[in-house]
Formats: sequence, structure tokens, C-alpha cells
Amino acid sequence: VRRPGDGPLHTERTPRVAAARRLTRRRCRDDERLFLAEGPQAVREALATGAGVRALFVSPERHDDLVAAARDAGVPVSYVDDTAMAGLSETVTPQGIVAVCGFLDVTVSDALAPPPRLAAVLYEINDPGNAGTVLRTADAAGASAVVFGEGSVDPYNGKCVRASAGSLFHPAVVRGGDVPTVLAGLRAAGVRVLAADGAGETDLDAELDAGRLAAPTAWLFGNEARGLPADVAALADARVRIPIHGGAESLNLAAAAAVCLYASARAQRG
Ligand SMILES: C[S@@+](CC[C@H](N)C(=O)[O-])C[C@H]1O[C@@H](n2cnc3c(N)ncnc32)[C@H](O)[C@@H]1O
Repeated sequence: VRRPGDGPLHTERTPRVAAARRLTRRRCRDDERLFLAEGPQAVREALATGAGVRALFVSPERHDDLVAAARDAGVPVSYVDDTAMAGLSETVTPQGIVAVCGFLDVTVSDALAPPPRLAAVLYEINDPGNAGTVLRTADAAGASAVVFGEGSVDPYNGKCVRASAGSLFHPAVVRGGDVPTVLAGLRAAGVRVLAADGAGETDLDAELDAGRLAAPTAWLFGNEARGLPADVAALADARVRIPIHGGAESLNLAAAAAVCLYASARAQRG
């Protein structure tokens, strides 16, 4: 709870609030190597993983447990008014808590050492909600690395952070790797690369039944509208289609990712 001695209720004009608000823009995030994590789940994970939380902004009388945890960790806490919170939030209904965190992405070589048993590679994924959902699903399925290939949305985009529901802080995240180079690195590290492709030459059930999904695997997922270009899909060890039993043209990207990643998790853990 905000107490006497917690200082004034800050407004959007307070320099530290204005500086944090600039992090809603990618260029400013890149300059500062800082991003905003909004909502109690993201803030809890950021604090729990010691992910370089630099500051916490909170609405009065909200999230006392997280305020206490932040203070215990030596993180400066500022109470802000509704307008300031709305400026920091990228949601229609702000959740009343936003943390400023340091970038946590790793290089491709760090993500490959040791080689992941399960990984996801995103090729030109545009929608931050989709990308964050894939990150969350990959984390849930036990993936230890997620690569946001060049041309994909920024993993630190506010909507992506929110959709990841705290999972941004779990697997190793690579931001902006050249996809052909990443795929070559994965294969050289002994990881089987599978392109999720509705027109693939093999299907997921056949891969599962043959026991091939038990191998260390990286799944490559394509753009929401265009899918994977043939030359990129050709870099995988196999192109795998999820069978469509009804009349649907394809699955939504995040749904396809859930089916593929959980098929691998089942095979690897069965
Ligand atoms: C919405 S789909 C793209 C559909 C696009 N019309 C196409 O031709 O691929 C986005 C991504 O989800 C994955 N996906 C969707 N349906 C799939 C399926 N039936 N089998 C395998 N992957 C699928 C693929 O990675 C695809 O690139």
C-alpha cells in the first residue's frame, strides 16, 4: 500500500515516467536496451528470474505483494496517476503495474550451447500477439530456445510481452537472427530442423509414429499470411504438415505451433 514517505504520486510529466514511456517505441528500446513488462504475471516473472528490473511503476493501492518483492530486491518503486499509467500501458485496460527491464536476449551461439532439445524458430512473424503466444506455448512445451528471426516482430513489443504471459523470461530468446544461418547452426549442433508447412512432404502423425520426433528438434514456423518461402523451407531436414481433416485451409500459426511443439514434447518425454 502506498504509505507516507513513498513520495508524490507521479504524473506523465515526471522525467522518469516520460523516459519509461519512450520505451513503447522500438527505436528507444534499442537505444536504451530496456523494455516495459506490463501486468502482474510479467512483473512477477521478471522479479523472480532476477531479469534486471530497473524500476517499477504502480497505481496506488495495487499489487502490494509485487511492490514488496521489488523493494526487497532494491528496485525503485514509483506510484503513478491513472494518466501516467495509461501512457506506460499498451492495453485498453491497464493492469496497474509496469516494470522497466533490461534486454535479456542471447546470441545464436549462446542459444546453441548446449544444443536445445526443443526449440522454435519464427520466420517473419508479424503479429505480436501470435509471436507472444508461440513463445508462451514453446515455454510450456519445454522448449529451451525461441528465435525471433530477422523480419519478425520485436519480442520486446508490449503486445508480445503481454501475450507471452511471463514466458519471455524463461527460454533463451534470440532477437533478429538470420534464419538460414540459425538453421545451419542448429543442424550443425545435431538438432533436427522441421519446417511446419501445410504442403509438407510428410505429416506429423507419420513423424510421431516413426519415433522421429524424439530427436532434438527445432520447429520452423512461417508468416501468418505467406507461410514459409520454398527456399527457406528447403533448408529444413523435413517439411511436416499437420493433417487437415476438415475443410480448413490451414491452422492459425499459434495453433499449429502448439500442435507441433506438444507432439515433440510427448515424443521426447514419452
Ligand atoms: C496461417 S499459416 C500460413 C498459411 C499460408 N496460406 C501458407 O500457404 O502457408 C502460418 C504458419 O502456421 C503453420 N501452419 C499452419 N497450418 C499448418 C499445417 N496444416 N501444417 C503445418 N504447419 C501449419 C506454418 O508454419 C505456417 O507457415
